[in-house]
Amino acid sequence: MHTTSIIGSGAVAAALAGRLAATGHRVVVGTRSLERAHDLPAEVTDIATAAAAAPIVVSALPGAVAVDVLAPLREELAGRTLVDVGNAVRTGPDGFASELRYPGGSLAARLQEALPATRVVKALNTLGPPSMMVDPPAAASTFLCGDDGSAKAEVTTWLADLGWSPRQVIDLGGVATAWWPESFVMMVRPLVAALGPVPFALAVVTAAPQ
Ligand SMILES: NC(=O)c1ccc[n+]([C@@H]2O[C@H](COP(=O)([O-])OP(=O)(O)OC[C@H]3O[C@@H](n4cnc5c(N)ncnc54)[C@H](OP(=O)(O)O)[C@@H]3O)[C@@H](O)[C@H]2O)c1
Repeated sequence: MHTTSIIGSGAVAAALAGRLAATGHRVVVGTRSLERAHDLPAEVTDIATAAAAAPIVVSALPGAVAVDVLAPLREELAGRTLVDVGNAVRTGPDGFASELRYPGGSLAARLQEALPATRVVKALNTLGPPSMMVDPPAAASTFLCGDDGSAKAEVTTWLADLGWSPRQVIDLGGVATAWWPESFVMMVRPLVAALGPVPFALAVVTAAPQ
């Protein structure tokens, strides 16, 4: 049985835990509040214990706090693959992202810098709501950014359990490329203004070779 740990117990954690549990994964959720997270289909524990409990650990934390929460867990996370789904932004008065928290860089790169013995892989941050992460429309794409090729292969296999076929998964390269998918969050406000508050996902459609 595969084990996946998820740090944080919010909307993304709930969607991922539900699908992973349904596909036979053991799911461990790390939370600050054991009571609040008790209704998830998962073993609920403290954050440090969850970080050390699985080969794949998902950071489902607010982007603004992820580095501060995870950097002290260097030992627990050593040798593991950390899937970073976060968007780290400053929000404007309307609640939408007004600027990136790490302009010119990225949350994923900051996490990799803080956790040198962990294999950070960016994924799943360009779609919402979280139900689309586990039930992706056929045309949707997700982007992987990470320095370790075997970790990205591991995440591609893990994504298949969430419903992503390999052709929907685009490997952009090293963790430095995470700036591009992380920048997509800046397009959310104009998209919502144009489309209304509908679920959406970024999709890359390629033409057949000539
Ligand atoms: N929602 C989406 O549609 C969507 C789409 C793409 C990407 N994302 C990204 O996914 C990440 C999670 O999103 P979400 O919607 O699940 O957020 P959320 O509902 O706010 O959940 C985040 C969880 O992180 C934990 N947390 C919050 N502040 C913390 C702190 N200071 N220290 C430690 N833990 C803290 C909380 O869990 P506990 O109270 O149990 O500790 C909280 O439930 C974000 O980075 C977001 O940008 C979200």
